[in-house]
Amino acid sequence: MNEFNENMIEINIPATEPDRQYFFIEKCADLVHEKELKLGRKLSACIKTFGCQMNSRDSEKLTGILKEIGYEITEKEEADFVLYNTCTVRENANFKVYGRLGYLQGIKKDNPHMLIGICGCMMQEPDEVKKIKKSYRFVDVVFGTHNIFKLAEIVYGRLTSGKMYVEIQEGTADIVEDIPSTRKYPFKSGVNIMYGCNNFCSYCIVPYVRGREKSRNPQDILAEIRQLASDGVVEIMLLGQNVNSYGTNLETPVSFSRLLQMIEEIEGIQRIRFMTSHPKDLSDELIEVMKNSRKICRHLHLPLQSGSTNILSRMNRRYTKEDYLNLAGKIKDAMPEISLTTDIIVGFPGETEQDFAETLDVVGKIGYDAAFTFIYSKRTGTPAAAMEEQVPENEVKERFDRLLKLVQGGSARLNSRFTGHVVDVLIEEINEQNPELVTGRMSNNSVVHIKGGADLIGKILPVRLDCSKGFYYLGSLVSE
Ligand code: 5AD
Ligand code: SF4
Repeated sequence: MNEFNENMIEINIPATEPDRQYFFIEKCADLVHEKELKLGRKLSACIKTFGCQMNSRDSEKLTGILKEIGYEITEKEEADFVLYNTCTVRENANFKVYGRLGYLQGIKKDNPHMLIGICGCMMQEPDEVKKIKKSYRFVDVVFGTHNIFKLAEIVYGRLTSGKMYVEIQEGTADIVEDIPSTRKYPFKSGVNIMYGCNNFCSYCIVPYVRGREKSRNPQDILAEIRQLASDGVVEIMLLGQNVNSYGTNLETPVSFSRLLQMIEEIEGIQRIRFMTSHPKDLSDELIEVMKNSRKICRHLHLPLQSGSTNILSRMNRRYTKEDYLNLAGKIKDAMPEISLTTDIIVGFPGETEQDFAETLDVVGKIGYDAAFTFIYSKRTGTPAAAMEEQVPENEVKERFDRLLKLVQGGSARLNSRFTGHVVDVLIEEINEQNPELVTGRMSNNSVVHIKGGADLIGKILPVRLDCSKGFYYLGSLVSE
């Protein structure tokens, strides 16, 4: 129990959510306003997000709450409140956070009133929290993945107690709806459809830090998407660690395919994406629904992890090399224009040269538009961490380079296959390198640069793909 809770003398705190959080948002807003008057300027907040789309979506919620409190949001880490939303899927991600915390400590020395916060997956690991409490005393607030919605209550706790405020919840939390949220893009948005994961792939820390799988009610999801559509959103990305098992644990089970069909009916939404699919749960029904849909994008992210049946079994993935190849075959037969992308881990304990050759074989056979390749990282507490046959570092590195070469060559070739076609492109932003260009995405997620200005942003327009540059196209607007 936190000291602030024990000493709480407020008697009007609502007991139910989200009212309780709106109460604390107001309380924080008063304190922030007082500080503004003292300093004679607005207070700023900066959220740095590490890791996956789930974290990006959580950061939108955190941003929404901070804005309600009255902070101005900035990209600069010289802000009055800096919050790191962390990832812990590979050990490197943790090193990065500690490195940056050291840098923040320097900034805080010159601005003692600055608040520093850390949240997200890394904070669901007890050892990391211990380390922060012991060696990073200048950190002000620490909270986990289940407490995102409680940001205002946590900040209030810190401001009123004057001490580091830590709030971590173990296991799976109840889903709290209707908390403020700010979208990064006005025309597209992530939508969580489920939280957590039950798969326990033997290398993966996610089930331990994100808790058990829990699906949101379809009515809540549909209401959120209808609201987004009426705000002008045209593209949504449905988010979950394993969207194919959506709905199985609901009181009245609803399949993912059924959910997609209901979303398809929502007027204004023109594109539907989803991530991530586990091959073992991808149903024929889903392939059929995708094939017949006008809105579901022609892109599937289908993590392979390894092409060796032996390694897949040690990874607890519950499919074989042949299962995966059959599935990909079925998908491509139904939708020949689809783009497949994947995740692959190199150097899983016990991986032999023969196992690795199986991975190369699958990559060659499938032809991925993009593959995210990772060197196996040992995560304490996962079953794979206790496996003995760790592969020597130099061998892993050598395999990794070979895989990367194959993947890059293949995807560059594939990415040129639509040259000369006219396709719909959602224009997303001004090109970072050349302000005379705008950048957009095709249904299959390929990137296209075209001549144009900010007035095109948020529109889905027909574009001729003039030439392929390997990982992107140069195109031109086709007048209708
Ligand atoms: N080491 C390396 N890569 C990992 N991933 C998950 N856990 C690990 C690990 N311990 C990769 C998987 C997953 C992606 C999000 O991260 O490929 O699909
Ligand atoms: Fe991790 Fe496997 Fe769950 Fe994906 S499906 S989050 S890799 S345990």
